[in-house]
Amino acid sequence: MEPRKDLLDIESLSSEEIEFLLKTAGPFKDLFEKSVKKVPTLRGKSVLTLFYEPSTRTRSSFEIAAKRLSADVTNFSVAASSVVKGESVLDTVDTLQAMKVDYIIVRHPASGIPNLIAKHANASVVNAGDGFHAHPTQALLDAFTLREVFPKSARKRVLIVGDILHSRVARSTSTLFRKLGVEVGVLGPGGLIPDGKPKEFKVFRSFDEAFEWKPDLIYLLRIQLERQKAQFFPSLHEYHQVYGVTNERFARVEKEGIWIMHPGPVNRGVELVDNVMRYERCLINQQVENGIATRMAVLYWLKPQTSSREAEVEV
Ligand code: CP
Repeated sequence: MEPRKDLLDIESLSSEEIEFLLKTAGPFKDLFEKSVKKVPTLRGKSVLTLFYEPSTRTRSSFEIAAKRLSADVTNFSVAASSVVKGESVLDTVDTLQAMKVDYIIVRHPASGIPNLIAKHANASVVNAGDGFHAHPTQALLDAFTLREVFPKSARKRVLIVGDILHSRVARSTSTLFRKLGVEVGVLGPGGLIPDGKPKEFKVFRSFDEAFEWKPDLIYLLRIQLERQKAQFFPSLHEYHQVYGVTNERFARVEKEGIWIMHPGPVNRGVELVDNVMRYERCLINQQVENGIATRMAVLYWLKPQTSSREAEVEV
């Protein structure tokens, strides 16, 4: 597969590229069972994580993925950097470029910043989540997890529940699921279902209606209060009553053998009750594990424009 310089979204990936990444992640995951979990693929390369927003899973997953590929990793702490003194994103990137990093993994609250950096930098840029726009490696790890549960040929239904409007995860994952032939339904407060959603999405007004559609998997989203400029529902308690997997709904989920995914972080008592986390068909931890393998596949595939000259260094 021809390498690319950057991974910025899911829309621009061809079917062949998607299949290549999902297939490549498999052997990387097998590596996790070995006593030595490292391969020398990116030895001598440097990976920099540049996160302007908090992250637990994505940042540490990229760090572990890069280290398992033998790259050197630097975590750039925005809070402790000259960004707080007013340095612009592009000046920061210029400074980091001067350090000859090969990969920049960027998360930013504004949509489009990773694209801007990618145009500016010779390093390969991976979008680790930008505003409402995209989170392509989350989508790839979700698709890889879906494939572990359902065979490639199976035609499946996935119900996405929650704050679709503000969710880059919903945007990227639903786009990738549709590309893989999955039927997608959405359920959430009216104001959190975007007008511009794809026309083939089924929109449900209640969980009961959605259950009648017979979803194979329910993908729960976190309510992103930090991005909401208006109040879309009266309270988190009421959100849970109407759109959460309550104990009553969980009984139906178990009875019907419906699988559960969530990108994390989970708000217990809002999107779901505690028991869901212990459910044998809850895939949340599997998603996290698969995040490392799929991110290894992404780093393996991308090709920075940084010099590939194997220099003899004289000291
Ligand atoms: N799923 C996800 O992006 O989690 P973090 O915000 O912890 O990286």
